[in-house]
Amino acid sequence: MSYKEIYTRSLEDPEGFWADAAKDIDWYKPAEKILDDSNIPFYRWFQGGVINTCYNALDRHIENGRGDQAALIFDSPVTGTKKVFSYIELRDTVATFAGALADRGVVKGDRVIVYMPMIPEAVVAMLACARIGAIHSVVFGGFAAKELATRINDAKPKVIVSASCGIEGSRVIEYKPLLDESIDLAVHKPSSTIIYQRPQISASLQDGRDFDWVQAAAAAKPADCVPVAATDPLYILYTSGTTGIPKGVVRDNGGHAVAMKWSMKNVYNIEPGDVFWAASDVGWVVGHSYIVYAPLLHGATTVMFEGKPVGTPDPGAFWRMISEYGIKVLFTAPTAFRAIKREDPNAEYLKKYDMSGFKALFLAGERCDPDTLSWAQETLKVPVIDHWWQTETGWAIAANCLGIESLPIKPGSPTVCVPGYDVRVLDENGNEEAPGEIGRIMIKLPMPPGCLPTLWQNDDRYVESYLSANEGYYLTGDAGRKDEDGYLWIMSRIDDIINVAGHRLSTGGMEEVLSSHPDVAECAVIGAADKLKGELPVGLVVLKAGAGQDHEKLIGELVALVRQKIGPVAAFKKVTVVDRLPKTRSGKILRGTMKKIADGEEYKMPATIDDPAILDEITAALIRIGYAK
Ligand code: COA
Ligand code: AMP
Repeated sequence: MSYKEIYTRSLEDPEGFWADAAKDIDWYKPAEKILDDSNIPFYRWFQGGVINTCYNALDRHIENGRGDQAALIFDSPVTGTKKVFSYIELRDTVATFAGALADRGVVKGDRVIVYMPMIPEAVVAMLACARIGAIHSVVFGGFAAKELATRINDAKPKVIVSASCGIEGSRVIEYKPLLDESIDLAVHKPSSTIIYQRPQISASLQDGRDFDWVQAAAAAKPADCVPVAATDPLYILYTSGTTGIPKGVVRDNGGHAVAMKWSMKNVYNIEPGDVFWAASDVGWVVGHSYIVYAPLLHGATTVMFEGKPVGTPDPGAFWRMISEYGIKVLFTAPTAFRAIKREDPNAEYLKKYDMSGFKALFLAGERCDPDTLSWAQETLKVPVIDHWWQTETGWAIAANCLGIESLPIKPGSPTVCVPGYDVRVLDENGNEEAPGEIGRIMIKLPMPPGCLPTLWQNDDRYVESYLSANEGYYLTGDAGRKDEDGYLWIMSRIDDIINVAGHRLSTGGMEEVLSSHPDVAECAVIGAADKLKGELPVGLVVLKAGAGQDHEKLIGELVALVRQKIGPVAAFKKVTVVDRLPKTRSGKILRGTMKKIADGEEYKMPATIDDPAILDEITAALIRIGYAK
């Protein structure tokens, strides 16, 4: 069937469409209602169904003869380690660790925070939670203790699983002191932690609270899969909102398993047994969906890489991985390709490797600039597919679904709506924009399986953040357009979210941190264009009367404060002191205009600006730190 036929059916008969897809998943009890719409705007998929996600990801494939096939390949150039887990080995390791969690009192519905570097134990911890019906919440390693504490307070985990250290290039980053600090800061205290001791650093363990992973596993009995409701949460993943308080995106078990499995063949054109690599981090949604769940639910082989696209040891790292493991499809963020292109513009390193098994590159996480797209196309000579999605949806909203039909590529567009998604571009009054006109990108409810049913214990914030702009629609937070051929063009965010190296960050959160400095009267953080990372945060601060005059020292303190409160991942390094900020007459800071100035773009003088002369001062201040023209 053509893309058009499949897409049309998915919208005209969503229940029939997803009931068919659900046949590819094993259920203890099939759903009574495929789509429960009895409590609008809260839609629930596969109501009444009973399932276990870990069973579907591991045990089922062993029962079907894939036990000796590689499930997980781990490759760590930073430690010189390589390890392959067959489905049987991974299932046994997961079952034993699930037993260790159960020994610490973890039962169905309990939360477990996973704060881990990119090591197989992170995957094991996630699947072990799924096995016993516990809800995991993975926190990215590049966040600071305070961010971890915020998530501990919200998720209230019974247990936290962590490791002694992560490795960033040549640097060893201790995790345990950060974990200890975050537990001290948090109001909620976990009853225990389980720490994986890596050979690089041994963390000190607190008697009675902290347990050694290896010892805990050695003492544990393997745990069986616990049946859970399809609508029970599988995980919570926190993502940046418009304030410093992150949103706890909830993923259910049933809809997620169905969508993940369906996407592997239809979006990525992967067959069971193929090798699929998502070069991301388990702390992000891409890692959840495409390092852990989707490839395993599909019976494919997944790859975990503890390294960077460049510097570990060279810009040929991705090509080595592809040729060494016979990777068919790679999924990463455009920033990774910009990094490789910058160091090896003529792709000399590629010549050393056999790339014959490589069939497609998928990019997401940020807008893919046409330069990067064409460099990747010319270099790799395979389809390069830009696809658009977000933490909330958990899988692609728009893509060129290679497993259905390969459509013509338009550089700069993530192609068309994925089956199940009814994407509309609306104006401020909720009317649909004509083709080519830019508006707010919305998804007509109900969204397909796999998308968030709500925010963790916060239905009100879910409705207020996503469903209140236009009744019956989900607000993606992105602005863009749809062209005459139905191709989507994602242009920018409509909120204060910025995208730094494919990582989503809130400038509002950074402003909250800057404002907490005693010398800062007010401030603004904008996302300025960056050749490597897409965007980088830039701070503009106004000082309180009587504040110290040593601006260099103050700037150093502000940079350190953001690193300490949010984490190195914020990549916050540029700040400038200004006398005042441009505002509308009603007092709204003109961040959009400042961003245009920073990027050296033409801008219209805002009609409501309080005092136009301020913009010259802002331009001069931005020039001083290397922005604007
Ligand atoms: N633990 C601790 N610190 C971490 C970390 C972790 N798990 N991950 C990143 N950091 C640190 C980095 O060391 C860096 O610190 P620094 O300021 O001291 O140098 C900082 O956080 C920023 O990290 P990052 O944005 O990743 O920058 P980088 O310069 O180290 O690498 C890229 C740049 C482009 C190579 C890298 O971001 C990349 O490969 N990105 C593409 C893949 C990807 O992860 N996409 C995500 C969604 S698909
Ligand atoms: P995250 O939730 O971290 O995955 O970030 C999601 C946001 O990243 C989206 O709302 C977009 O703003 C941006 N994004 C992700 N993929 C793309 C893409 N292919 N093109 C443009 N923007 C993207």
